[in-house]
Amino acid sequence: MKKYLIITYGCQMNENDSEKMSGMLDNLGYIQTDKEEDANLIIMNTCSVRENANNRFFGNLGNFKKLKKRKKDLIIGVCGCMMQEEHIVKKIKEKYSFVDIVFGTHNIASLPSLLEECEAKRKLVVEVLSDSDSLPEGLPVHRQFKHKAFVSIMKGCNNFCTYCIVPYTRGRERSREYKNILSEVTNLAKDGVKEVTLLGQNVNSYGKNLEDRISFAELLKRVSEVEGIERVRFMTSHPKDLSDELIEVIKNNDKICNHIHLPMQSGSSRILKLMNRHYDKETYINLVKKIRSEIPDIAITTDIIVGFPTETEEDFNDTLDVYKECEFDTAFTFIYSKREGTKAAVMEGQVDEDVVKVRFDKLVKLHDEILFKQNQKYLNKTVDVLIDGVSRTNDKVLTGRTDTFKLVNFTGNGKAGDIVKVKITDVKTFHLSGEQL
Ligand code: 5AD
Ligand code: SF4
Repeated sequence: MKKYLIITYGCQMNENDSEKMSGMLDNLGYIQTDKEEDANLIIMNTCSVRENANNRFFGNLGNFKKLKKRKKDLIIGVCGCMMQEEHIVKKIKEKYSFVDIVFGTHNIASLPSLLEECEAKRKLVVEVLSDSDSLPEGLPVHRQFKHKAFVSIMKGCNNFCTYCIVPYTRGRERSREYKNILSEVTNLAKDGVKEVTLLGQNVNSYGKNLEDRISFAELLKRVSEVEGIERVRFMTSHPKDLSDELIEVIKNNDKICNHIHLPMQSGSSRILKLMNRHYDKETYINLVKKIRSEIPDIAITTDIIVGFPTETEEDFNDTLDVYKECEFDTAFTFIYSKREGTKAAVMEGQVDEDVVKVRFDKLVKLHDEILFKQNQKYLNKTVDVLIDGVSRTNDKVLTGRTDTFKLVNFTGNGKAGDIVKVKITDVKTFHLSGEQL
């Protein structure tokens, strides 16, 4: 019996692609393993959004050289965003000649044929399309969880934020037909899934390339109407495209979670312009205010980049100001990472590393303070929690999420997939604690 291991780096899109590769490998009769030494096939699904993911990938790949020497018939495949970059594929061919298969983000569905070709020829097989019009439908999926699932509703991105490599690695934006999405969600619900997260780089522009088109807000509504679905999440929303219709739909529909992930990236209008984000500081703050006034108990989370080229202390203080004003529920904070091929990579005024580190630490401190403050609102409240399972560190404790995506650890007798009422009795920065009622 052949065994496989898939190592995934990066975002939920990659997780989703890995689940599809797992599904295809299951169909070929492979069995999943989490031990490198047991695997006959190791696939590394890569991320190129920041430099540190690149470094981690090459470090781990290098370690497989010895394993490959010991196990001659081990097949090593590398795929995902990094493989869409020519210089990376070149480096793999030159320095990591023990790799057997290289394939790109548009070639996931080719995995079975690439494997077959590799086994027959026993030499390097490479398949990297620069972009593709078609979105493969109906691929088998091996899901990580029984009760929740990711559903990708579109791929690619047309925004070309100047720091970002995604438009180059994932190609142009294309939406899936809504009928295909709804039938996937219906099948998931029949299979016991309670919560779906709709994925896209910019979900608010869903449907633009389709003839038979519905808005993203309408899609959310229809997904929430699928029998068996209790919760619908989505990410990511670009602030420039967030519609009033979407706010209305979230407000009026209990199944659509009260959570918007709304990447701000910077609080400085000057930097936002250089980033090509198409909004300024005031527009962003007003949007957050509007959302919070329409849906008072909504959680708003964000992404922030510190140290974009030419960022001054004043620009960074704008980011801190907006952060304080918006009181985000949480944020993913990143140090700017120069990506070859993007516009920002060749901008003058790259900021000194030490300066960026000081700013970054300041932002993290503010993040923790505001997160703790936001979490205080939950003390002594009763919340609905979708149980994910038992806690990794203590099997007497259950763990799950509120619809606002807060992590809750609690005592109780529910099981994974149940939505239960929990009274919050204690609040920490990174989680809430409570007792099931
Ligand atoms: N450097 C740092 N962070 C980046 N992101 C995207 N590209 C870069 C980069 N070059 C961050 C953005 C985006 C998140 C997914 O990753 O904040 O929203
Ligand atoms: Fe990258 Fe901007 Fe597209 Fe997001 S919207 S994937 S940050 S280019």
